[in-house]
Amino acid sequence: MPVAKQTEIKPAEGKLGVLLVGLGAVSTTFIAGVEAIKKGFAQPIGSLTQMGTIRLGKRTDNRVPLIKDFVPLAQLKDLVFGAWDIFPESAYDAALNAGVLEKELLGQLKEPLRKIRPMKAVFDQTYVKRLSGTNVKTGKNKFELAQQLIDEIAEWKRKNKCARLVMIWAASTEIFLKQHAVHKTLDSFEQAMRDNHKAIAPSMIYAYAALKSGIPFANGAPNLTVDIPALMTLADKNKLGICGKDFKTGQTLMKTIIAPGLKARMLGLHGWYSTNILGNRDGEVLDDPDSFKTKEESKLSVLEYILQPEVYPTLYKDFSHVVRINYYPPRGDNKEGWDNIDIFGWLGYKMQIKIDFLCRDSILAAPIVLDLALFLDLAQRAGMKGVQEWLSFYFKSPQTAPGLYPEHDIFIQLMKLKNTLRHLRGEDLITHLGLEYYD
Ligand SMILES: NC(=O)c1ccc[n+]([C@@H]2O[C@H](COP(=O)([O-])OP(=O)(O)OC[C@H]3O[C@@H](n4cnc5c(N)ncnc54)[C@H](O)[C@@H]3O)[C@@H](O)[C@H]2O)c1
Repeated sequence: MPVAKQTEIKPAEGKLGVLLVGLGAVSTTFIAGVEAIKKGFAQPIGSLTQMGTIRLGKRTDNRVPLIKDFVPLAQLKDLVFGAWDIFPESAYDAALNAGVLEKELLGQLKEPLRKIRPMKAVFDQTYVKRLSGTNVKTGKNKFELAQQLIDEIAEWKRKNKCARLVMIWAASTEIFLKQHAVHKTLDSFEQAMRDNHKAIAPSMIYAYAALKSGIPFANGAPNLTVDIPALMTLADKNKLGICGKDFKTGQTLMKTIIAPGLKARMLGLHGWYSTNILGNRDGEVLDDPDSFKTKEESKLSVLEYILQPEVYPTLYKDFSHVVRINYYPPRGDNKEGWDNIDIFGWLGYKMQIKIDFLCRDSILAAPIVLDLALFLDLAQRAGMKGVQEWLSFYFKSPQTAPGLYPEHDIFIQLMKLKNTLRHLRGEDLITHLGLEYYD
């Protein structure tokens, strides 16, 4: 039984428009998957919102509903998809090009996928050096491009009869940018857009347009994007959720599963060497050192935060951590990630762990996009604004309130996510103390 006060959550009535920046491998695998599930020939494997359960009350209470029955999420039948891309191909052709899903499966989904044609992108090759395309907006300056997006979003919402929208960045990784003075306030940010300042990347223009249009925003790539005071202030001011960054799939997913286990057993680490081969367009973009730098920063911080060398110097001081991504076209989206982990145990005796993860990047990322769209929409209806740290579970480099270190341990992240849902519904938080069973 609920004990605390429930948060008022507006019902998920009407259609939810999911606006995707980038209609590449991740976005098309996500859309095709939802369409296949809607048609009843696939299961939403990997999606916590669709398959996950949540325990309520005591272990003896036997209350374990599905998450989607516990909180009012939008239903898959109510999702509508829109996208921007620098290439004009429909979602069907883009999915064929991405080569993630089989032709036969896509053939069965041709009709809904063909209808999704990307809107013209806000793009500048300065920020993604390895790409060039024709489906691109032109405008006097970055502020004007943002206004074009704002008008386009309003028109899209009206045409598609959506009640609510969410926006997710699933476009290419931009070059590494640091926070700049113009990112400090909303005024300086808007002025910088008018001045075509180089510190304003396209991803920031989309995020600005979303937040100005009353739409929550999630960042699936490691770009700086909403991790700047100006856009965090705008999200707060307009009472919108934001979260990021960089979908946690593949190798980093494994890292945040294994590292907490090593630390739990007080096993030491001398080094963790990670390398990948990957042949999709994402791999091609990341072959550019400036885009790779953005990804590398996002991937590297994970172990430091989980292992806390400053708290456990004997175990984790000065471990070496190397991450490499090599573009290797024959593999397409089917990445192979190797990890060599040099650990040590009792009396300092050395051991090694080897992981060879033959994963499929977009297959791991697609359910994350679905969950983020549904949870961000839920947060919006529940009046949750600003950085949605409870969604850290989905990110390699979780966004937090300024000054707060991110939590990377996937098990803590999951507990936080589920406790947030319990809190919303006025249920007891689960601490796993469990003394009551022994009274
Ligand atoms: N697949 C994964 O496991 C995974 C995990 C974490 C992060 N990501 C990130 O997600 C993003 C998408 O990955 P993907 O495999 O789909 O890549 P992709 O290259 O297949 O698709 C990205 C698409 O974005 C488009 N694009 C680039 N800049 C754009 C802009 N300014 N506006 C609109 N469209 C733009 C490109 O034309 C391309 O079609 C990448 O940044 C990637 O690093 C992916």
